[in-house]
Amino acid sequence: FDQVSFLQCFSLHSLQSNSTSKTIATRNDPTYISLLQSSIQNLRFLNTSSPKPQLIVTPIHPLEIRAAIVCSRKHGVHVRVRSGGHDYEGLSYVSRIPFIIVDLRNMRSVEVDVEKESAWVEGGATLGELYFAISQKSKVLGFPAGSCPTIGVGGHVSGGGFGTIFRKYGLASDNVIDAKIVDVNGKILDRKSMGEDLFWAIRGGGGASFGVIFAWKIMLVPVPPTVTVFEVGKTIEENGTMILYKWQNVAHKLQEDIFLHAVIGVVIPSSGLANNTISISFEGLYLGKIEKVLPLIRESFPELGLKRESCTEMSWIQSVLYFARYSQDESPRVLLNRTQSSKSFYKAKSDYVMKPISETALQGLWNKLIEEETSYLILTPYGGVMSQISKSETPFPHRRGNKYKIQYMVTWDSEEESNEHINWMRELYDYMAPYVSRFPRAAYMNYRDLDLGRNTNVNTSYAEASVWGLKYFKSNFRRLVKVKTASDPTNFFWNEQSFPVLSPRG
Ligand code: FDA
Repeated sequence: FDQVSFLQCFSLHSLQSNSTSKTIATRNDPTYISLLQSSIQNLRFLNTSSPKPQLIVTPIHPLEIRAAIVCSRKHGVHVRVRSGGHDYEGLSYVSRIPFIIVDLRNMRSVEVDVEKESAWVEGGATLGELYFAISQKSKVLGFPAGSCPTIGVGGHVSGGGFGTIFRKYGLASDNVIDAKIVDVNGKILDRKSMGEDLFWAIRGGGGASFGVIFAWKIMLVPVPPTVTVFEVGKTIEENGTMILYKWQNVAHKLQEDIFLHAVIGVVIPSSGLANNTISISFEGLYLGKIEKVLPLIRESFPELGLKRESCTEMSWIQSVLYFARYSQDESPRVLLNRTQSSKSFYKAKSDYVMKPISETALQGLWNKLIEEETSYLILTPYGGVMSQISKSETPFPHRRGNKYKIQYMVTWDSEEESNEHINWMRELYDYMAPYVSRFPRAAYMNYRDLDLGRNTNVNTSYAEASVWGLKYFKSNFRRLVKVKTASDPTNFFWNEQSFPVLSPRG
């Protein structure tokens, strides 16, 4: 890699951006390591043996993104694009072939237009920055995206993006009305100039196969001035298994103003005498007041035993803090913090459930979970508007027919333990096979899992990529490959799970 020549190329092509700041960190730069590590979320990819980029570009202007792409092509290096760095498999900052990172951390403005109920948000903004900006302008507007405030909108929105109000308003990507992207030729395109095929593909197909999305125009959604959060915890000794069994039939049918997910974890008793057990926390959000939600839940889900004292009224932005595990005394300003307070090593997987899982099978799942004290599951109910949006409206195909999604997660503290925990996660996934979606066994692309299959080189065939592609995208996979072939025929934007390019014979 001829760094000097790359830097000359970059300054030549980015001249018009009037950039005064230093937008490139090379390996000799004192800021290189801290910049590289700043938004790495999964410690599995922070170790010294992980391949590192030749340099990191932190553009402040689209012309610098263009320069990064044009010069990378000229110098034969790949580009990895990073917004919030939350990719579960580190694809935004690790590559086995020589590469640079385009990190959008300095392009993160949010412009909220209250009258038009829309906003332009730059790719490097975090969800926390977006939610905070909306709350500063309006108490009755929100946006349906994820719960973790440090996620970047670049990766999140291009891969779908669900959160506590998605049963009413759909995914983040369902609420995008325009986007700006720099394509493989360095062209800066918006919805009109990129065309409807590419605009369709980047709303759920992931951005990394197509270019660098540096801004989204999103529709904001109405939220009431008062919402209610509630929580009921049960262990399996408190009939948790039966209540969860019932939840499977209820949660996806509740009216779309109610979100009621289940977070399942291992409880280690403090006495040391009792055995580990399983706790199930049913956590809910209702877009309205306690007096409305209480009878609704009592009638449709009496087994939960929801009491008034388990419910709290608050503003929508406070509910964002609540689901991000901040205390209610915190100022919404904490949402502006771009680094997560604690990071760990982790492996995650996802599944979709179409039929309730029996209590016996759940008991088997608990037995498996109890083996791993730092494992947990999040069960997210679908239904509501998610069942009304057609499967081909965007690349995200998991709509009608899904009762809920499972996220499996295991975390640990040191690199030596990695194999053991990853193997355990694979066993858990095998155990669940009979109880979840089949043909294909579907998965959520934003919960990236390279066990599902990976491209080993830039010439991966359609058949090879189908192995993972059909799981994430089902029948939308073929259209995504066609859009990829048209927009990036040389497969410059390649990664381990990017779409393949069809050969001329198709
Ligand atoms: P990152 O920067 O790592 O990018 C992810 C992928 O998108 C990479 O392939 C990258 O190259 C590409 N990309 C990023 N920016 C791009 C851009 N501007 N243009 C083109 N391509 C780009 N999901 C969810 O739906 N709901 C939730 O509540 C949560 N919660 C959650 C919590 C935590 C702690 C983690 C680690 C993850 C989640 N997620 C989630 C998953 C999350 O939505 C997913 O990891 C997103 O892809 C993260 O987007 P980032 O920009 O942060 O990641």
